[in-house]
Amino acid sequence: MKISIKNIKGEDCACDALILPVSEDGEETLTMLPREIQPLIKRVFSREFSGKQNEVFLMNAPESVAPQRLLLVGLGKKEQVSAEKLRQAGGKAATYLRDMGMKKVALSTDFLHGLNFSPAEFIEGSLLGLYTYKRYRKEEPNKKSLESITVLAKSDKELTEELRQREVASEAVCFARDLVNTPANDMTPAHLAKIALSLKGKNLSVRVLDKKDAKKLGMDAYLAVAKGSNEEPKFIVLEYKGSKGAPVVLIGKSVTFDSGGISLKSSEGMEKMKYDMAGGAAVLGVMKAAAALRLPDHLIGILPATENLPGGTATKPGDVVKSLSGKTIEIINTDAEGRLIVADSIEYAKRLKPRAIIDIATLTGACLIAFGNEAIAMMGNDRKLLDALKVSGEKTYERVWEMPLFEEYKEYLKSDIADIRNIGGRNGGLVTAAYFLYEFAGDTPWVHLDIAGTAWIEKEKPHMPKGASGVGTRLILDLIKGLK
Ligand code: BES
Ligand code: ZN
Ligand code: ZN
Repeated sequence: MKISIKNIKGEDCACDALILPVSEDGEETLTMLPREIQPLIKRVFSREFSGKQNEVFLMNAPESVAPQRLLLVGLGKKEQVSAEKLRQAGGKAATYLRDMGMKKVALSTDFLHGLNFSPAEFIEGSLLGLYTYKRYRKEEPNKKSLESITVLAKSDKELTEELRQREVASEAVCFARDLVNTPANDMTPAHLAKIALSLKGKNLSVRVLDKKDAKKLGMDAYLAVAKGSNEEPKFIVLEYKGSKGAPVVLIGKSVTFDSGGISLKSSEGMEKMKYDMAGGAAVLGVMKAAAALRLPDHLIGILPATENLPGGTATKPGDVVKSLSGKTIEIINTDAEGRLIVADSIEYAKRLKPRAIIDIATLTGACLIAFGNEAIAMMGNDRKLLDALKVSGEKTYERVWEMPLFEEYKEYLKSDIADIRNIGGRNGGLVTAAYFLYEFAGDTPWVHLDIAGTAWIEKEKPHMPKGASGVGTRLILDLIKGLK
């Protein structure tokens, strides 16, 4: 899909359809539209179309103007327009026109007069909404796809740059979605490593530690998860050097399939546990975008990749392992595997002397229960980092909600025979999982993001087909761009 900017009026733009975003407050909006089409739109307004959020209405354009058709797309109440609503309208308009067989379309930006938003948000929504997962489908002969969107605006440096950034970010999100949607028979730890290696470039290096290397280092918490599987675990480390100085380390949980291990999950919905590597996918998305945008940062991405399966060699409930940090862990439940691999990753990260560690993980079912698909649970030990993520969450609408790390939770994780156990009691599952990680982070500035609720969506949104959402990619990219 090609995005370009052209400084001409909507009525002069030859295209299959001209997109006209309009708010509910019709009269006011009308005067912003090309004069030739005002009477036409006045007629449909409030009869066939009212301007409600994401409402669409397609009509033939009069002979006197260059576009073939006009598409009205609703933005809701003018004073309530937000970046997210623009993204949604962008997704709705683009997918609707694609499904109607349009190829070349244009976006009128007249609606932006008096609103403090960039058309780039609308375009970002279009790019995110047009995503489809194609890997296992034969190309349909007359598969519909949009070829181009032309943004009708003055082509200044600022808009060109913003569009480019949003394009790169959307591509990274779609890249992450592809990884997560891919089933575990193809998305193995080795395959994930291969994809990471394919990102290698001028400022981006990639190292893959295999089982032997991990053993030598002493990452037995991580290896305990891999023990039941025939797929070799891969501990993947990417480094992007856009500048010198202490790195920000991003850790993405990468369990390519979580059966629960000996503490086997019930079969209902187990097929979805291919998305247990969504944290890793988001980290790869961020690294890819950072390199493409040549961000002036030093980033290290860590993906502890493994399957979690039962078997004759699998870890058993009650087993005790020594983690890389030296702390011993009693594994009460083998289904609480994410924290084991993230704990060793945190210790690995600490040895890189980072300025901050952010881990992103589909860590607990309790997160999904608490927030549904709407928020990322966040916990951490660094107020500045937490606040910055909160701001990025609002901006990207990958919203985060902070939960507490009360010291009382320490008690929940006491083991009778080891330094710590890997689950708390029945209650407080979301926070005790994070508290477990907190014990490994120590004083290093660290934030944990639980994306179990947001990484997979059951009901599509205009800018998000159902399935893998790619959540975390835009959030962390926005955070990094704002880091001083
Ligand atoms: N990967 C799961 C968490 C999960 C559940 C993600 C549902 C997405 C949707 C994690 O490894 C897990 O199984 N956690 C257990 C922890 C429990 C045994 C303490 C859980 O949440 O049930
Ligand atoms: Zn699990
Ligand atoms: Zn898991």
